[in-house]
Amino acid sequence: MTLIQLFETATAGEISSGKISSGKVSTITKASATQAALFPIIFDPKKKTSWKDRVEKLPAPWNALALKRIDALKFKPKKRDVLSFEGENLHNIVLAFWSGGSAFETLGWARTVFQALKGSKAKAITLDATHLKNGIVLDALVSAFTVSCYRGPKYGKKSKAPKPKTLVVLGKNHEINGSFESARATNVVRYLTEMAGNDLTPTLLRDLSLSLAKLPGVKATFLSKKELEKKNAGAFLAVVRGTDDPGVGIVKITYRPKKGTPKKRVALVGKGVTFDTGGNNLKTGGHMLGMHGDMGGSALVLALLLLAHQCQWDFVVEGFVTVAENVLGPTSYRPNDVVTASNGKTIEVIDTDAEGRMLLADALSLASSNKPDLIVDFATLTGACVRAIGTAYSGAFTNKRRHFAKIRRAGVESGERVWPFPNDPDYGDCLKSEIADIKQCRASGGSDHIEASYFLSQFVGKVPWVHIDLSSCENEGGLAHVPSKVNGFGVRFTQSLLEK
Ligand code: BES
Ligand code: ZN
Ligand code: ZN
Repeated sequence: MTLIQLFETATAGEISSGKISSGKVSTITKASATQAALFPIIFDPKKKTSWKDRVEKLPAPWNALALKRIDALKFKPKKRDVLSFEGENLHNIVLAFWSGGSAFETLGWARTVFQALKGSKAKAITLDATHLKNGIVLDALVSAFTVSCYRGPKYGKKSKAPKPKTLVVLGKNHEINGSFESARATNVVRYLTEMAGNDLTPTLLRDLSLSLAKLPGVKATFLSKKELEKKNAGAFLAVVRGTDDPGVGIVKITYRPKKGTPKKRVALVGKGVTFDTGGNNLKTGGHMLGMHGDMGGSALVLALLLLAHQCQWDFVVEGFVTVAENVLGPTSYRPNDVVTASNGKTIEVIDTDAEGRMLLADALSLASSNKPDLIVDFATLTGACVRAIGTAYSGAFTNKRRHFAKIRRAGVESGERVWPFPNDPDYGDCLKSEIADIKQCRASGGSDHIEASYFLSQFVGKVPWVHIDLSSCENEGGLAHVPSKVNGFGVRFTQSLLEK
C-alpha cells in the first residue's frame, strides 16, 4: 500500500459539479429513485416568514412536497434544524435549515445533514447550491459529506465496506474541490490513527511516508538510527534504543509547488509513536489502551503533505515525520540517563513515558537548522493538556506571542478549535537539572503540557514556531463535521493557519 492509495481508499465517495457531470443529473427535478435531494434553506431568524419563503421558492415539485410535510408536522425550524423525509419515488428529501453560527457549529450541523441520510439507499445526493452564496455553508456540506464516506481499516469478517456515494453539487462556479481534498486528507489521518498497532508498525509508517515521493514535486529521505547517530540525535535515539524495528527514524519529505518560485518555506513536524507502552515507566491500568494512536501527529503531517500536493500550495513544505515506538526491553532508556540532542543540549531523562518530547527535540533541531519561515509541530504529547481543556479543543503554544491572535482565528475560522497556553520562561524553572542542561519533565505534578512546550522551545532556536498538543484528536461522539471518536483533527486548522 502507498499513501496515495490510502488517500483514495479511505474515502468511498466522490463529488461532482452539476454543471460538469455530463447530463447524468443536470437538474434536481430529474433525480432518479436512487437519489436524495438536499436543499439548504438559509434564513433570517428575525424575519418570521423568511424560511417559509425560501421553501416556497424551491424547484417544483419539491416545494409543494416540503410544504405539505412541514404543515403536517407543524414544523418550525430553530437555528440549524434538519428535516428529512421520503418523497415521491422513494426520494429522500432533506431540508437543511441554517440561520448562522460559528464554523464549528456549521460543521456540526452539516454532520447531522448526512446523518439524516444514513439509512437511505441513495447512491447519489444532489445538493441544490444554485442559490447558495455562503461559502462556509457549502464548504461544511461538502466536507461533512466527504468525511461521512470514510472507509476505515477493518479486520476480519465483520468488515462491511460502505457503498461509494456521489455528491452532485448544482450551482455556478462553486469552489468545492478544495473542501473535498481537505476532508479526504482528514480521512487519511483517521485511517492511520485507527490502524492497529501491530499493523501500522514503524516499518510500515516509514514506508508509507517514503511512498509520498511517488508524487511529482515530492522528495523523501529516511534518516535511520545510523544516520541519526551521525547527527548526534541522542534524544531521539534514546527512545528507540529498546526496539529492533528497522523502520524507526525520521522521514524528511519535501514538497515543492510545480509552478512559480515559492517565497515561503514551512516545516511541519509530527510525533509518530506507533505504540506507546511508556517504556521502563510502564503505563499501568487502562492507560496503555489506545496508545496505537500516538502517531497522530505524524499522520497529520503526511496528510498535509498530500493536501499540499493535491491543492498545489504555493510554498515549500518540509515534513519531518518521526517514526518510533516506545517499548520496554533490556536496552530501553531509563530514568536519570543523560543524553545529548543534535543541537548539543544535554537532557536528563526523568520519565521514559515522556518520549514524545525526546523525539521532537531532535526533529525540531533538524527542522530549525534549515531556517524555515515557520515550524508547526503536532503531537499527542501530554495527558495534562487533555485534563486542562478536555478533548473538544487542542492546545496551542508558540514562541512568538504576537502570533496568538492568528492561531486562535485559524481555529475559529476552520472550526477545528485550539486554545492558547502561556510560554513564559519561568515555566522552565522546574526543569533545571543538577547534571544536565535541562530535565525532560518533572517527576510529578505541575502543568506538564506547558512545561513540555517550554522544553520543546529549547530546540527551535529563534525560528517562529507553533506547537499543537492534539488533545482533541479523539473525542467521544465525534467532533465538528466528523462523526467518529478518532476525528483526524488538524487538517482544516493547519490549512487555515498557513493561509494566514
Ligand atoms: N502519549 C502520551 C500522552 C497522551 C496520553 C496523549 C493519553 C493522549 C492521551 C505521552 O507520551 C505521555 O505518556 N505523556 C506523559 C508525560 C508524563 C510522564 C510527564 C503523561 O501525559 O502522562
Ligand atoms: Zn508516553
Ligand atoms: Zn506518547
